[in-house]
Amino acid sequence: MPYAQITGWGMHVPARALTNENLVQMGVDTSHDWIASRTGIERRFVAGKDEATSDLAVKAAQEALLLAGTRPSEVDLILVATCTPDHIMPSTASLVQNRLGAENAGAMDINAACAGFVYALSVGAGQIESGRARQVLVIGADELSIYLNWRDRSTCVLFGDGAGAVLLRASDTPGVLASTTGSDGSGANLLMIPAGGSRIRMNGRAPAQKDRYLRMNGPQIFRWATQMMAKAAQKVITSSGLKPDQVTLVIPHQANLRIMEATAKRLGVSTEKVFSNVRNYGNTSAASIPIALCEAIGAGMVKPGDNIVLTSFGAGLSWSAVALRWNVEVPAHLPRWSPLRRQLEATMATLRSALRRQERAVRTTIEERLHRD
Ligand code: UT7
Repeated sequence: MPYAQITGWGMHVPARALTNENLVQMGVDTSHDWIASRTGIERRFVAGKDEATSDLAVKAAQEALLLAGTRPSEVDLILVATCTPDHIMPSTASLVQNRLGAENAGAMDINAACAGFVYALSVGAGQIESGRARQVLVIGADELSIYLNWRDRSTCVLFGDGAGAVLLRASDTPGVLASTTGSDGSGANLLMIPAGGSRIRMNGRAPAQKDRYLRMNGPQIFRWATQMMAKAAQKVITSSGLKPDQVTLVIPHQANLRIMEATAKRLGVSTEKVFSNVRNYGNTSAASIPIALCEAIGAGMVKPGDNIVLTSFGAGLSWSAVALRWNVEVPAHLPRWSPLRRQLEATMATLRSALRRQERAVRTTIEERLHRD
């Protein structure tokens, strides 16, 4: 049975940064001290008006493919973990597939909210282990800023936008060692965006504004998360046959520094082994773990032979964890021609997509004429 190994990684965040002070200046009834001391967050990035989730996802994915030395046409499957897709349909993954020019890839979205990326990693690894795919692009991308009520200080200070991606490739040497996924829908009401689906119908009218916003019972999620992330991590550590002291790095969902510290304590690992960058990005939902992974790699905290545990929680309630053995050398930098190659591949993908559209239109016209005649 082949293993699924991470061979490429990439991340992207929007250009616009919002500090805690900026929120205060915007009129949010909060303070830098409150946000920093209760969550660890100091800054987050927010997408511009013309920047959709797929735009962030494509950039992160291009970086991951370049690092892996994989052409888009060699990818078998694209999974985009998101709860803020560009549209209800088609999937954001299909839009990403088109923009990348990954003409041989299947594509679908996975929605497990903030736990989505680790869920998707587990699904992608399963496809490789079963022999159904050899290269799977797994992306976590979200723009929760769109659903924030900027007058609700208990939620709007927490979230940011971003995307992160990894390329999984079939390998003879261990990569993903174990994974777990879970859900407890009895807690669905604790974190939700009520409108936008089939439950709150429009009936000719727009849904109430309050139903379009993210709503959350913070303290209850907090209590549950401090237990759940550790439990999920513990489960994959045990089922991968690792001893806790063999784990070199834990990358938890970046929601709140206090939740991460409590997770470290429960797991019995020192906080130095628990990576956190929530300070700079806030909670980027499905993007938080791949962004943190990229930054941990960039900080020199990941080397071949390391055992890494990713553990996450989110709306659903849902949770997932993965234990993996890192096996690739981290290149000091991308080859010099990488931006050129990225540009060329993106241009080719745009041309190919335009040609396909044109071809479809011409064929439809011809078939309609033939049918009429
Ligand atoms: O991906 C999953 C996403 N969700 C989470 O991870 C959320 C998990 N929960 C949390 O991180 C924490 O519960 C929060 C950071 C959301 C809140 O921290 P807390 O320590 O649980 O505070 P709290 O909700 O119990 O509120 C304490 C006080 C309240 O005031 P009173 O009633 O004591 O006077 C709040 O109104 O803090 C007030 N408060 C704020 N004050 C200043 C709540 N938000 C703010 C704020 N600025 N932004």
